[in-house]
Amino acid sequence: MKGIPINIKNTYAVGKDDPFRVRTKVSMMINIAIIGFGVVGSATYELTVRNAELIGKRVGDAVKVKRILDIRDFDDHPASGLMTKKLDDIVNDKDISIVVESIGGLKPAFEFTKAVLMSGKSAITSNKELVAVHGQELEEIARQNNVSYLYEASVGGGIPIIRPLKQCLAANEFTEIIGILNGTTNYILTKMRMEGVAFADALKDAQEKGYAELNPSADVEGYDTYRKLSILSWTAFGKFIDAEKIDRKGIGDITAEDIAKAKGDGRVIKLVGRAKLVDGEVRCTIAPEAITVGDPLAIADGVYNAIIVRGNFIGDAMFYGPGAGGEATASAVMSDVIEIARNMVASRKSV
Ligand code: HSE
Repeated sequence: MKGIPINIKNTYAVGKDDPFRVRTKVSMMINIAIIGFGVVGSATYELTVRNAELIGKRVGDAVKVKRILDIRDFDDHPASGLMTKKLDDIVNDKDISIVVESIGGLKPAFEFTKAVLMSGKSAITSNKELVAVHGQELEEIARQNNVSYLYEASVGGGIPIIRPLKQCLAANEFTEIIGILNGTTNYILTKMRMEGVAFADALKDAQEKGYAELNPSADVEGYDTYRKLSILSWTAFGKFIDAEKIDRKGIGDITAEDIAKAKGDGRVIKLVGRAKLVDGEVRCTIAPEAITVGDPLAIADGVYNAIIVRGNFIGDAMFYGPGAGGEATASAVMSDVIEIARNMVASRKSV
C-alpha cells in the first residue's frame, strides 16, 4: 500500500508515521460564533462575508460564522438562519472553535465568556469594560483551558495597539502611554470646534453613527477612556489602574466659549488619558486638555484616536486611526480571529 496515491477530501491531520501523509488541498473550515449582534457584532459578520475569500487565503482555510447569539429577533437579516438565543447552541457545538463576544458590559458577558473558555473555545472581545474588570481572570481561565482570550478591539477601535505592545514592541520597557482614546468625545469636540454644532446635537450624531456607548455618560465622563487606559497599562506595564486612584474629568463642562478661546490661542481641546509608571506605580490622569495644534495628538480629529507609547528603545511611537465604529472595530476583532485561525492551521500541519 505504501506510496499509492489516494484521494481523501476533507482530511488533514494524519500522524507523522502514517504512510500516506495526506497533507495537501484539504480544507476543514474554521467555524466561529458571534455573541451580541449590535454595531460591532453585525459588522464582524459582514466582514467575514465580504472579505471571505481573502481571509480564507491569508488563514489557509475558510473562516465562517456558524452561529450568532442575540436576544433580539433578526428575521429579515441575511444571517437570520444562524441566529440563536441559547448560549448552549454555541458552547456545545464542537465545530465552533472561536467565539466573538461583542455584547458589551459585564452582565452577561462575563459569565458567557467564562462558559465559552471552559468549553475549550477561544474568546475574542471588543468589550473594554469586561477586559478592564475581569481580563486577568479570563486570561487565566483561557490558559487553564489551553485556549486564547484576545482583546485587540477593546482599545482604539480599529487601531492596532494591543498586538504591537505585546509583539512588535515587546523588547521595550514601557514608561508612559498618552492617548486620545475615546472616539465619541473627540467627535463631539471636533464638531463643536469645526462646525459650531451644539454639544447635545454632536452627541446625538455620534450615537446615530454607532460610536457612543449605550450609556454615553461612559464616554462623556471619561470612564471609557479610563477602561482603555487601564487595559493599555495592563498590557504595557503589567498593572491595571485602580479606578479609585485616577484623577478623572470628562468633557461635560466644556463650552463653546472654551473651544473658541482655545482656538484663538492656537490650541484644540481633547480628552487626553495619561498613564505613567513612577517607582513601580501607575499614575493616571484623564482630563480635557487644550493642546497646541503642533502637538502630535492634535492630528486626531473626529472619531479618530491617537496613542503615544513611550518605550526605552523605540522612544515615542504613535498609533493613529478610527477609534470607534462598527467596521473599524470589526477589523480589529477579525485580526484576533485570524491570529487564532492561523495557529489552528499551523498546528494541524505539524501533526
Ligand atoms: N464609545 C467608544 C468610543 C466606542 O467612542 O470610543 C469604541 O470603544
